[in-house]
Amino acid sequence: MAKFTSSTQTIPNVSDIPRHVAMIMDGNGRWAKKRFLPRVVGHKRGVETVRSMVKACISQGIEYLTLFAFSSENWRRPADEVSFLMNLFFTALQSEISKLNANGVCLHVVGDLQAFEPQLLALIHEGEALTANNTRLTLTIAANYGGRWDILQAANQLALAHPEKIGHYTEADLIPHLMMAYAPEPDLFIRTGGEQRISNFLLWQLAYSEFYFTDTLWPDFTESSLSEAIHSYQQRERRFGRTGDQVSDQKNDQTSSVAVLSAPTL
Ligand code: IPE
Ligand code: IPE
Ligand code: MG
Repeated sequence: MAKFTSSTQTIPNVSDIPRHVAMIMDGNGRWAKKRFLPRVVGHKRGVETVRSMVKACISQGIEYLTLFAFSSENWRRPADEVSFLMNLFFTALQSEISKLNANGVCLHVVGDLQAFEPQLLALIHEGEALTANNTRLTLTIAANYGGRWDILQAANQLALAHPEKIGHYTEADLIPHLMMAYAPEPDLFIRTGGEQRISNFLLWQLAYSEFYFTDTLWPDFTESSLSEAIHSYQQRERRFGRTGDQVSDQKNDQTSSVAVLSAPTL
């Protein structure tokens, strides 16, 4: 059984602070280019933003932070940039794992990890094992991840596990096989760098997420940029298919039941 319900099956509880924020960290290359520096300098600088986002999410009370680090299509980049990114992932993990653990962060890496060098794979497993019982923030790094790949691998696993049910699978059957079955669906999706597209990120899980796009390049994205995104999120009305009137009626019901509950019993 998956731990969380699906937004298309039941209406999730919505809180002021998003429980789960998913981010496409885009714009590193352009950040460097603007400064007449090699693209990879932008990637290096981007790691600093990752560090500050982890801190910011902890202090804002966000429970899940998911970062798109390398897409299944990023292998199409020049070989030297790909190998720089792989090395950077390795060295960043190496230097951060113990700090993440000390700060109560639980680390997950999702994607088709078989493509990685054995050393990197071993470090990922080590980091996940070390931090497995931490509960302050669940940090997911999506690496060699593609939303289509995720749905396909889940469908294949399900078919292998339950061949007798082929033709009758439900959402509830599929969800436990998705890579992020351990997390609720993202409440807020942020993409930096000005592009307004999903680029094959969490296709299934973003069904009812709120989208926030900013021109700010990833290395320039700060804790106050995150606060702005959260502020924008707080102005949204999440209807999950219902009418606006139904949403406000439900809010009023909740407020009045809180009032009744807190009324003094004489
Ligand atoms: C995002 O920055 C990082 C990765 C995709 C690995 P980019 O490298 O895509 O930066 P731009 O979009 O070229 O500026
Ligand atoms: C998406 O960014 C992937 C990551 C940030 C890891 P890209 O820069 O690869 O996306 P496109 O190619 O502009 O859509
Ligand atoms: Mg890009």
